[in-house]
Amino acid sequence: MSKTLINTFSKKLITWHGVSGRSGLPWQGNQDPYAVWVSEIMLQQTQVATVLERYPRFMKRFPTVKKLAAADIDEVLAEWAGLGYYSRARNLHVCAKQVMQEFSGKFPSDPILLERLKGIGRSTAGAIAAFAFRERAAILDANVKRIFARLFAVEGAIQDKAVNDRLWQLATDLLPSQSENMPVYTQALMDFGATWCTARKPVCIGIEKKCPFAKDCQANLSDQVLALPQKTLKAKSPEFDCDMLLVRAGNFVLLQKRPSKAIWGGLWSLPESPWRPRTERAHKSAQGLKALLSITLLEENISGLLKSFKGLKQGNQIKHIFTHRRLWMQIWELSSSNTVEFSNSNLKWVSLSQLGRYGLPQPVKVLLLGLSPARDGDLKN
Ligand code: ADE
Repeated sequence: MSKTLINTFSKKLITWHGVSGRSGLPWQGNQDPYAVWVSEIMLQQTQVATVLERYPRFMKRFPTVKKLAAADIDEVLAEWAGLGYYSRARNLHVCAKQVMQEFSGKFPSDPILLERLKGIGRSTAGAIAAFAFRERAAILDANVKRIFARLFAVEGAIQDKAVNDRLWQLATDLLPSQSENMPVYTQALMDFGATWCTARKPVCIGIEKKCPFAKDCQANLSDQVLALPQKTLKAKSPEFDCDMLLVRAGNFVLLQKRPSKAIWGGLWSLPESPWRPRTERAHKSAQGLKALLSITLLEENISGLLKSFKGLKQGNQIKHIFTHRRLWMQIWELSSSNTVEFSNSNLKWVSLSQLGRYGLPQPVKVLLLGLSPARDGDLKN
């Protein structure tokens, strides 16, 4: 590696940040490890603009790790609703309890210990250690991998172990020598990857060609910027169909709590059939009552519900795209003349006005919030 770049990289990057980096974000300049940790987890898969709106709300609701650990998981999931990737919320809750039990409520500063906590990977551990404790710990998220792969023309897929190891080594070698610079350096690295050294439109290929590393960057010098890091071909994500049951009894809708290990784990949703791979035949075969019967709730209290239900209507089909799969949800609408009791505590009648208290999958939330209130006399009990 070029000796000069090792010595100058962090200084140049910090100078760049002073002029072009992001500043004034609510989680910046905060040394409280709890606040840093929450912001890093929220920022992992959520855009900065959304986090700007949701982070202050989360911190107000759960201002300390102690309060988060003591909360009910349903409250945490409800607060997380709409941010997606709900395992982050479940892991936050588990991690808060670990910090209370194993570290008396104080986050450790050592990135190796941080990485042992639930939901904290190596790069996030480095970020928390750098921001909250000024530890000389490296980060290496996807944006940072791209910066280093270009600067040093690292070839090979970044999933490759040898390539990954080499990038971690570079990330470590390039750290500033003074630990007091770690917070600004780490933020600068994130910002540079997110806004200047971007995947498709890095500033070096723009008209101004203003990148401060243009003369150091091996990819730029050899005209390989857009070719690095090397991309791996992604298989098309598989597609599924399922049926969902929207049962209304006046202003109440029937919700079912999802198993914690499933997609949208622990959230409240509409009762749902198993998913079927979306072949033409499977897609066409789900019809009316047959679809209904495959929905688990009916196995439990079929007679009670069937006695009081009024007609079955095919509702909308909603498409939802996850990172690794696509799902078509066929809604079947049913109205019930009363709120039939279920012995299964995973089933619950919830009033439309109380939906805000429940963590709901985003497409289900949109569907339910669009329901109009029942007219007087719709529910006879
Ligand atoms: N993504 C992850 N952490 C971040 C941070 N601290 N600032 C901006 N984007 C981020």
